[in-house]
Amino acid sequence: MNGLFISLEGPEGSGKSTHAKQLIQKLEEYGYEVVSVREPGGTATGEAIRNILQHDSTGEEIHIETEALLFAACRAQLAQSVIKPALAAGKCVIADRFIDSAIAYQGYGRELAIETVIKINQFAVDGTMPDLTLLLDITVDAGFNRIMERNKNTGKKLDRMELAGKDFHEKVRNGYLEIAKLNPDRIKIIDSYRDMEAVSNDIWDTVKSLLAKQTV
Ligand code: TMP
Repeated sequence: MNGLFISLEGPEGSGKSTHAKQLIQKLEEYGYEVVSVREPGGTATGEAIRNILQHDSTGEEIHIETEALLFAACRAQLAQSVIKPALAAGKCVIADRFIDSAIAYQGYGRELAIETVIKINQFAVDGTMPDLTLLLDITVDAGFNRIMERNKNTGKKLDRMELAGKDFHEKVRNGYLEIAKLNPDRIKIIDSYRDMEAVSNDIWDTVKSLLAKQTV
């Protein structure tokens, strides 16, 4: 039996992580066995790589090619050790970011050749692709306002990627919208600049219609 794989994507401050948690809770209430993963990370190797990527822990400049390969390495580890076995066991996998983050951030954002980013990542995921991707869309300004608000309350600081500048993040957001246009069957755009309940209901309606078509 094959499980169900759903990824959540979006620019900074789009609310992916909050909505991923709510979606997991709803699926569990409905009796689904859910495995939740986040990228970069989700495995011991992946979390070690996350630390390098997010916090500049080496103190060394990370080249954009290195960055692309590190994100892809993280993804390969996660796909092989967590996602594939969970799907093979018929579970529902919810991923906070997956392959589209690489195409949006390293391809469109960093301006590496899109075809190369796709090839590296196809190698990394080895055929493991989401059945559904929820793209939580928000403008760069609105997303960063949310992040600043969150950081004020938690004392968190902007990480290496968040500090990449507004132009970069505009390219990422536009990249996501382009990827969605190219993959209309898999990617559903959700307007995330609304109150939490409206976004959450939209997500649940989309997931329910997928569940109706599949038996997990
Ligand atoms: P987040 O999990 O807090 O959103 O942080 C992940 C950061 O890493 C975010 O800025 C997006 C970035 N990222 C990439 O640039 N490429 C990738 O492939 C992934 C998974 C994340």
